[in-house]
Amino acid sequence: MSFTVVQLSDCHLLATKEERLLGLQTHVTFEQVLAQCLSEHTHIDLMVFSGDISNTLDIAPYECIQSCLPKNIETLWMPGNHDECELMLKVFGDNCLTHKQLGNWQITALNSQVVGKVHGHVSETELARFTQHIEEHPNQYHAAFLHHQLLPVGSAWIDAINVDNAESVLKTLETYPQIKWLANGHVHQASTSKHGHFALYSTPSTCFQFLPNSPDFALDIEAMPGYRSFTLFDNGEFETQVHRLPQADLGIDKNANGY
Ligand SMILES: [Fe+2]
Repeated sequence: MSFTVVQLSDCHLLATKEERLLGLQTHVTFEQVLAQCLSEHTHIDLMVFSGDISNTLDIAPYECIQSCLPKNIETLWMPGNHDECELMLKVFGDNCLTHKQLGNWQITALNSQVVGKVHGHVSETELARFTQHIEEHPNQYHAAFLHHQLLPVGSAWIDAINVDNAESVLKTLETYPQIKWLANGHVHQASTSKHGHFALYSTPSTCFQFLPNSPDFALDIEAMPGYRSFTLFDNGEFETQVHRLPQADLGIDKNANGY
């Protein structure tokens, strides 16, 4: 038996569907990624949204995304630096910042948001919520999602706005052999790395992508919006894959130097 988890991240939805961010209609690419995701999997056990769902302080993007989702799919949510956590909680309620069990697996959503800041931080309380959950389910396999990255991706500007206490968080997590992987958003690009016994993955945005290995802010015009899928097996093994929209011109402003 296996379970399918999909991760959609950094949708950056605006107050109306027509608005553009850096030239790209974020609603349009989100709907395209969601449609592709639903068509590529016959069954999805959990759909995870790893932050930066909204790019405004308006509730509309959260309500809109909720109305786009099939009602029979379980979801899990956490805020990014662009989100208003209270609005997220209002719309997604008990599915925010919690744990989900899929057979022998436990999936945790961690909060790395620092209100009013772009960088991330995992508080002692938040880390303890995760480790206590592992200790309460010691014979299960564990995985977690959070918005900000714990390991650098190689772009100085985005690595400066990572989880600022990543070193101590990783030090704590490496003492739990039950942890199989962690996955984040924020970096708008796919990456794979390893720390001790567990893997770390980042996932493309459903809108614009950042250029890998760039010292300063730069968009990757060639890389298409996408999502990541995980297949979790009962014996603790897993597979993961990045899926992207077919190549197209998204109207991205090539000269943008920030957002
Ligand atoms: Fe983002």
